[in-house]
Amino acid sequence: MIFYEPGQHKEHGFTHDPFKAFCSPRPIGWIGSVDDQGRTNLAPYSFFNAMASNPPQIVFGTGSRPDGTKKDSQLNIEQTGEFTLSIVAHALKDDMNKSSAALPHGESEFETAGIEGAASRLIKPLRVAKAPIAFECVYKQTIEMESWDPAHKNYMLIGKVIGIHVSEDVIVDGKADVTKWQPVSRLGYFDYATVTEVFEMFRPEGAPGPT
Ligand SMILES: Cc1cc2nc3c(=O)[nH]c(=O)nc-3n(C[C@H](O)[C@H](O)[C@H](O)COP(=O)(O)O)c2cc1C
Repeated sequence: MIFYEPGQHKEHGFTHDPFKAFCSPRPIGWIGSVDDQGRTNLAPYSFFNAMASNPPQIVFGTGSRPDGTKKDSQLNIEQTGEFTLSIVAHALKDDMNKSSAALPHGESEFETAGIEGAASRLIKPLRVAKAPIAFECVYKQTIEMESWDPAHKNYMLIGKVIGIHVSEDVIVDGKADVTKWQPVSRLGYFDYATVTEVFEMFRPEGAPGPT
C-alpha cells in the first residue's frame, strides 16, 4: 500500500493529484443563478451532493477565480438568496461543459453556450429547460473552508430545495428510473462516467424501506 499525505502525491509517481479520482463518481450540480440586476448565470459544480432529505438540502463547493475573487454562482446566490440546480443528463454533457467557461460577471452562459432556460415557479433563476430534473433552491449558508492558498479561498454553500421539476419521461411505475436520464458524473482528471445499470440491495434488517 502507498501512504501519502495530501500535497505529496508526486513523490509516489502520481502525475496529478488523484484525490478527486478517489472521490468519484461525483454528481454534477448545474447551478443557475441571477445577480441583483437580474442577469442570468449557469455553471457546473461537481463538489456537489445531497446532505439531507427532510427537508431536502444540498451543498456545493466552490473555489475562487484565478484573480482570487468569488465565482459568479457564489456571488449571485449570496446576493439574491436563490438558485436552481439542474441535473446533467448524458444528452446534455456538451452543453454542461460549454457552460463552465469563465465569463466576465454579468455575461450569461445560457446565451453564450446556447442553452435554453426555463422559468422557475417559486424563484427568479432559470433552470435548464432540457434537464429531466431540476431543483429550485433557497440559499441557507456559506461556510468558508481551509485553503492552502490564502489568495484563493474555498467555500461550501448550503441550500434548501423548495421545488422539484421532473420530466414524465424518466418515471417508470411511480419511480424515477436513473437509466432514463443517465446522469453525468465527474471522476478525476478529464474523466466522466454515467449510470447505465442499476442493482438493488436491502438493508440487513431486511426492511425494504428506501431512504
Ligand atoms: C464538470 C465540471 C465540474 C466543476 N466543478 C467545480 C466545482 O465543484 N467547484 C468549482 O469551484 N468549480 C468547478 N468547476 C469549474 C466552474 O464550472 C467554472 O469555474 C465556472 O466558470 C464557474 O462559473 P461561475 O463563475 O459562473 O460560477 C467545474 C467545471 C466542470 C466542467
